[in-house]
Amino acid sequence: MADQLGLLGYDYVEFYVGSAKMWAYWHAKAMGMKITGYLGPETGVKGKISYYLEQNNLRVVITSAINPKKYEIYSFVDRHGDGVKRWSLKVKDVQTAFDVAIKNGAIPAWELVKTENENGFVEEAALKLYDDAEIVFVNRDNYNGLFKPGYGKPIQNIEIHTEETGLQAIDHIVGNVRTNEMDLWANYLNKSLNFETFIDFGPGDISTQYSALLSKVVRSTEGPAVKNPINEPYEGLKRSQIEEYIDEYLGSGIQHVAIITKDIIKTIAAMRKNGMEFLSVPDTYYDVLKEKGMEVTEDIDELKKYGILCDLEGQGYLLQLFTKPIGDRPTFFYEIIQRRKGAQGFGQGNFQALFESIERDQAQRGSLDKTK
Ligand code: FE2
Repeated sequence: MADQLGLLGYDYVEFYVGSAKMWAYWHAKAMGMKITGYLGPETGVKGKISYYLEQNNLRVVITSAINPKKYEIYSFVDRHGDGVKRWSLKVKDVQTAFDVAIKNGAIPAWELVKTENENGFVEEAALKLYDDAEIVFVNRDNYNGLFKPGYGKPIQNIEIHTEETGLQAIDHIVGNVRTNEMDLWANYLNKSLNFETFIDFGPGDISTQYSALLSKVVRSTEGPAVKNPINEPYEGLKRSQIEEYIDEYLGSGIQHVAIITKDIIKTIAAMRKNGMEFLSVPDTYYDVLKEKGMEVTEDIDELKKYGILCDLEGQGYLLQLFTKPIGDRPTFFYEIIQRRKGAQGFGQGNFQALFESIERDQAQRGSLDKTK
């Protein structure tokens, strides 16, 4: 048996953005998250600002540079636009997880960093992922303070009126990579983190008359479920949305983070009230859904009202919906997902519906044409 890394599931996701304050406000307002922590000059950290947001087990960090010396943040945002810099995995012991991953062939991003104050300490170390992303191993068990040393209470005490969205935790995180890079990164995660390939969407599985993609889902074999689909473009008549992402992001990176909810109708109703924009689903989708006669608890007319996708998966079924890209470039977006009756995977029907709805958006941007 391979050496164990001691993985304990997802912890937080960190974005690098142009203005952390604006992004934090948007996450508080549209996503219904609470800004619970702040790091910056007021807490003794120079050159950058971070906001820490929480809701149930969902943890998001939003960081921007306020000093050109923070070149790593500036250069990331300059190249990729606002996007996910790193996602993290809780581990039993950071040094052990890092050593096993490196022995298995992972590329180190930075070695163990221990930050401490009077409330205890936090340890982290990171591996490289895709072009400029990272996977962080983190252990916060020995820290009694707010999130990590350096964070204090938010300095602005603004009351943000928002509908309760009931977002629970990260379900999966998806990467978009260039042609012929999918297997490379799937193998990298499988080898480095003892992951395994769980689903393989091959040529023709997800496609329209114009474009197509290939996708592999890798997942953890230890600890709570961690799932990481990886997409690459596949040849088609026009430019696929994965190519559009690569062109606009200027490289490979994180396409979306999926967040689990216990009641997707309530969540989507609240997020729509909060001003969140979602990809549209054609009415015909629900005619087909009714014809299928699936046994679902939800009222299909209500799913239609909120534009929620519904697909059988294994013994259960999946309810999913995708936001429009949340920044200026057509790159990163969120997914909201509810898994019913033990559905673990990713339904091909919903994946196809997602692919089609992104393509409709892409057509509006005029970016299906390969020559543009
Ligand atoms: Fe997804």
